[in-house]
Amino acid sequence: MRTRKKPWTGRELSENRGVINEPGELRGKWKEYFGNNNPIHLEIGCGKGKFLAAAASAFPNINYIGLERDPVILAAAARLNRVTAGAPAAYIVSDVENLPELFVTGEIQALYIQFCDPWPNKKKWAKRRLTHARFLNIYRELGIERIYFKTDDRPLFEFSMEQLSENGWIIRNVSRNLHTVPQDPRFITEYESKFAAQGLPIYKLEAYSGPPGGEKVERRNSQDEEPDKADDVHAQEKQDI
Ligand SMILES: C[S@@+](CC[C@H](N)C(=O)[O-])C[C@H]1O[C@@H](n2cnc3c(N)ncnc32)[C@H](O)[C@@H]1O
Repeated sequence: MRTRKKPWTGRELSENRGVINEPGELRGKWKEYFGNNNPIHLEIGCGKGKFLAAAASAFPNINYIGLERDPVILAAAARLNRVTAGAPAAYIVSDVENLPELFVTGEIQALYIQFCDPWPNKKKWAKRRLTHARFLNIYRELGIERIYFKTDDRPLFEFSMEQLSENGWIIRNVSRNLHTVPQDPRFITEYESKFAAQGLPIYKLEAYSGPPGGEKVERRNSQDEEPDKADDVHAQEKQDI
């Protein structure tokens, strides 16, 4: 994603109260920051924040955090949340690699990975994929209970299924063509809109932390014949509330 700096980028980063400039200082104190005991959901690579702003408005009893390594893009996400008067969410400029410096174990309940870079040269770049085992280990060590993953990239999707499964995550609600059933437009991400408009299939799965080592791994709908209903992605949110 290439985004040019806007006249308001610097101001948004310094003055928007949702932008956390020293996020490491909140490590272990995110509940205090939000001022409640609600679950915390994190989107990594949140882009310009369309999904996050909508989710924060729709599910006020969940605390949302967006993490994005590009400050210009993060500024756009924080701005969107502010101007759409959605429920407040927190925005962090950082790289996924830094998650252990930002959160303690058990602080984040759910993770969204949506249309992350596919890093197509598997041999050379697989380790950079956000569903590579080295990242899955970080997510597990942080006690993340579930991951919602969407992509337009089939090789990345199959790779992610393998990595998750081999690392003991329980995969559920798989779809290899999510948009064959109507989706709630609020939760369609920016990239998802673009790819779906091009007629590309959208792949989706949910992964639940299971026993380490891969035993008892359960797969459901893994062949995708049954795409999800529009609101399935947020079924767990509703349970959390
Ligand atoms: C293709 S965009 C998708 C944005 C959004 N999730 C969507 O679906 O519209 C991927 C975003 O992830 C960010 N990103 C990629 N790798 C990252 C990393 N290691 N840490 C943090 N952000 C990352 C990029 O800067 C980019 O904004």
